[in-house]
Amino acid sequence: MKRRDFLKGLATTSAGVALSGGVGSLASTAYAKRKKEDFGEIKSLKVHCISETSWFDNATLGKSIKAAGGINTNQYDVDWDLNNLGGYAALLEVEALDGKKTKYLLDTGWNNDWMDYVFAKDGIDKMLKNKEIDTLIITHDHIDHYFGIESTLKHQPDIKIYFPGTSMKKSFELLKGADFSSTPGCPKNTVPHTGELIVTNAKKEFYKIQDGFGLVFLDAPATLQVHGENNLYFKIKDKGYVTVTGCCHAGILTLINYARRNFKDGNKNYGCYGGLHISVFENWDPKFDDIIEGMKTYNMSKIACNHCTGWVWAEKAAAAGLPIIHGTNKNLSYKKQGSLSHSHTSNVYTGNGDDVFFG
Ligand SMILES: [Fe+2]
Ligand SMILES: [Fe+2]
Repeated sequence: MKRRDFLKGLATTSAGVALSGGVGSLASTAYAKRKKEDFGEIKSLKVHCISETSWFDNATLGKSIKAAGGINTNQYDVDWDLNNLGGYAALLEVEALDGKKTKYLLDTGWNNDWMDYVFAKDGIDKMLKNKEIDTLIITHDHIDHYFGIESTLKHQPDIKIYFPGTSMKKSFELLKGADFSSTPGCPKNTVPHTGELIVTNAKKEFYKIQDGFGLVFLDAPATLQVHGENNLYFKIKDKGYVTVTGCCHAGILTLINYARRNFKDGNKNYGCYGGLHISVFENWDPKFDDIIEGMKTYNMSKIACNHCTGWVWAEKAAAAGLPIIHGTNKNLSYKKQGSLSHSHTSNVYTGNGDDVFFG
């Protein structure tokens, strides 16, 4: 798409749809006719970043992908460099209007050693064993969000799971117990899942998790033959909507526009957390400036980004006046850090061990 067309899209508030390239159905008349969803409100949401470093060095990861044939190779066919692997996961604590708190685990990372380490650091292992965590939500079956499934299941095999229906056949097999580890960096799971499994799909699309917390499945394209992602929306009383994402492959503007079109009071956008999938490999494209301009129009109060957002985009967004939440550098005390953590002092990422409070 030409940049001129992209800007035209911004003007008509369909920028995100244009960006995503794969969820064009959102603009269809079926959606226009749909009654606006009113799924209630919560008092607050606390997001704890367990780990946002899916890998530690971009160049090393890029080399593995290139050697396997490029970005469209099946993710189970790439020889990954084990020493470079981490994973993405977050703990979500939802406070209902009556004060009741419920915990959710968002994604389960990649490298089991790293996930065991970060889970132990934050007591996630004990929370799972004690059944303090209500549900595991897998955003999508990408390497860094899902291959570490054993790290969760070994503590609580019967945890309720939301899982995208577009996941690869091997990803479903992994859930039941399978071993793909003959390819370096590919997963094995010796603990079959025994609990409730909710497979999300584009037909139903909207899933209410609890009052004030909804999940929207969008079949957006991603790399390594993965597609489809579960995106989370929270409606905070008196504040507005918070969007929580794994990689945000559909595009952040798409997700904000989704709320605006489909949810009651959807134009109140309070904030977001997660990977925003913009300058993923710290490259730059003029379109990324347009995303900054687009996000400015939504008057959000808190933007907590990390993972595949791209440090360079987050820095530019902060300099342009977007309310980027700055991290605390706790991640520097972890046994490993992403290569960017050392070279940047601007702290524009919500890093490993950081909390963000929406309420
Ligand atoms: Fe990711
Ligand atoms: Fe992803």
